[in-house]
Amino acid sequence: MTKQISSFAEYRKVYKNSVENPEKFWEKQARTFEWKKKWDKVLEWNFDKPDVQWFVGGKMNITENCLDRHLKKRGDQVALIWEPNDPSQSYVEYTYKELYQAVCQCANALKANGIKKGDRVCFYMPMVPELTIGVLACARIGAIHSVVFAGFSATALADRIKDATCKMVICSDYNSRGAKNIPVKEIVDEALKKDCDSIETVLVHKNTGDKVKMKSGRDKWWHKEVDGQKKSCKAAKMDAEDMLFILYTSGSTGKPKGVVHTCGGYMVYTEYTFRNVFQYKKGDIYWCTADIGWITGHSYIIYGPLLAGATTIMFEGVPTYPDAGRFWHVCEKHKVTHFYTAPTAIRALMAAGDHWPSHYDLSSLKVLGSVGEPINEEAWNWYNEKVGKQNCPIVDTWWQTETGGILISPLAGLHKLKPSYAMYPMPGIQPCLVDAEGNELKKKEAEGLLCIKFPWPSMIRTTYGDHDRCKQVYFSAFENMYFTGDGARRDKGGAYRIIGRVDDVINVSGHRIGTAEVENAINEHPLVIESAVVGYPHEIKGQGIYAYIITEEDVDDVAAFKKEVHAEVTKVIGPIAKPDLIQVVPGLPKTRSGKIMRRILRKIASGESDSIGDVSTLLNPEIVTSISDGNSDAV
Ligand code: WTA
Repeated sequence: MTKQISSFAEYRKVYKNSVENPEKFWEKQARTFEWKKKWDKVLEWNFDKPDVQWFVGGKMNITENCLDRHLKKRGDQVALIWEPNDPSQSYVEYTYKELYQAVCQCANALKANGIKKGDRVCFYMPMVPELTIGVLACARIGAIHSVVFAGFSATALADRIKDATCKMVICSDYNSRGAKNIPVKEIVDEALKKDCDSIETVLVHKNTGDKVKMKSGRDKWWHKEVDGQKKSCKAAKMDAEDMLFILYTSGSTGKPKGVVHTCGGYMVYTEYTFRNVFQYKKGDIYWCTADIGWITGHSYIIYGPLLAGATTIMFEGVPTYPDAGRFWHVCEKHKVTHFYTAPTAIRALMAAGDHWPSHYDLSSLKVLGSVGEPINEEAWNWYNEKVGKQNCPIVDTWWQTETGGILISPLAGLHKLKPSYAMYPMPGIQPCLVDAEGNELKKKEAEGLLCIKFPWPSMIRTTYGDHDRCKQVYFSAFENMYFTGDGARRDKGGAYRIIGRVDDVINVSGHRIGTAEVENAINEHPLVIESAVVGYPHEIKGQGIYAYIITEEDVDDVAAFKKEVHAEVTKVIGPIAKPDLIQVVPGLPKTRSGKIMRRILRKIASGESDSIGDVSTLLNPEIVTSISDGNSDAV
């Protein structure tokens, strides 16, 4: 471990060095890990292809760095605390030694079931310890994990399994979330009926113990396969650039893409950012409330904290079960020092009332974090006052599935904060703002499209099975830069404020949803001719989903029709993508080349019809007034 940055002056110095000589900087970080063979070269890169390789020729295994190397020093320290959905059920702790053994047992079970280095294993599981164990077991033997958020539908799961040609699915019987009991295994069974021919085995973890159907020859119980295995397992020798995992995420167009991360750079970057952003100290109890189905869970529940030898909490439940005090209860119970959540949760809990956080002893808290979407000032202030008691720095961390780790964020407690600003780039990160033509805005104070000019170790390497798509989406908009898809503002002091997506991605409760995906799902409804989906400001969710729909015949009961649309979207994607509002329209505003003018639809959905501007170049300008007039009928 390198020394943590401990003052703003030091950050400035480190930052300067890191961008003047990035290879030397990252090499120094990398040296603190265990490598089976040292790298021949620190970095090779070409953003045009794109081809980015870090620690070229280096050999290692990330789990040896997450687990084995801690055994001597902190084998008996708690690595993982699991807090169940039901607060009356007792929590579970794994020391580093116990986690190591559990991972090895699972790794041996994977091998016994024919999983080899390079094979893809899909996870479709609730937030149970076996998910973390399974993910690390894959990494142990060099299998590539592809975790699919357990809120996605059978169709969405099948698409992801097929795209990555996974050999195995690991799932649970059921998922208890709040008051619900979701039949996970049943959803897997349904997905596997959709031409998922590559799947040979389904490993089922007994979670609730409710009855499930097991298909003989294919389905096996976790406890039967794993529990009897040896508690040690040789770690596969991985190239720094071998794939570690695939994680699907939504973009502007088409189906979700499998973002690929590799072993070496991801390891170095997640550990470094975890320690420096959160200023984690020995003995601290760190809790990130994200789901492991998203990147935040990968990098800052599993890998970053374990690499740093931290104690990390995994929470199975939801913020409002059994009541809106649950988060604060868990903080009190485990004496949480670091609490990392999403603005949507903060807003929801803020709406539930101040008495919830004030009812619990939150005096253990030292650092608060925010991630996934812009945090509005009101939520920031509430978080600061009611949760942090004005005593905990808030790290508003900006990053993406594609970036692997946090790129822009305050370093906890090291400098003054500005509400709603993600503040400064991490060492080694070279952000810039460009205008629509790609000209860099050199003035300090500026607003533009956020790009990154130089590679960092945990950046996306490719989109699985379609390298050209990676090039098109991230490296073709502007020459020699990684384009984030976000707009941002920079102040005089060089602090960044993230404004939000500038593409057709909406950020609903911190979940990235592609408008095209939702439209495709809506269009499955037999009555629908065409649809257009946009985001609009939503008090709790940040953005809500607004769908304009053209139907074949008049819809008398729009509320009933909305239910049918919801069913369609739930079937194709999952409940997270259900439109909040739908409006049945006679047509959609289009350019002469037939492109839907979403800018106009966004204005109407946001209640800003007055500032639509000139529509005379549209193919059908008259439609704008008609849609705008009908806006109040949206349900
Ligand atoms: C948004 C989540 C403002 C942003 C880690 C980005 C944020 C997208 C912040 C990535 C933040 C994430 N402030 N916006 N602190 N963090 N975003 O891939 O639009 O699920 O492009 O990764 O979330 O979402 P993803």
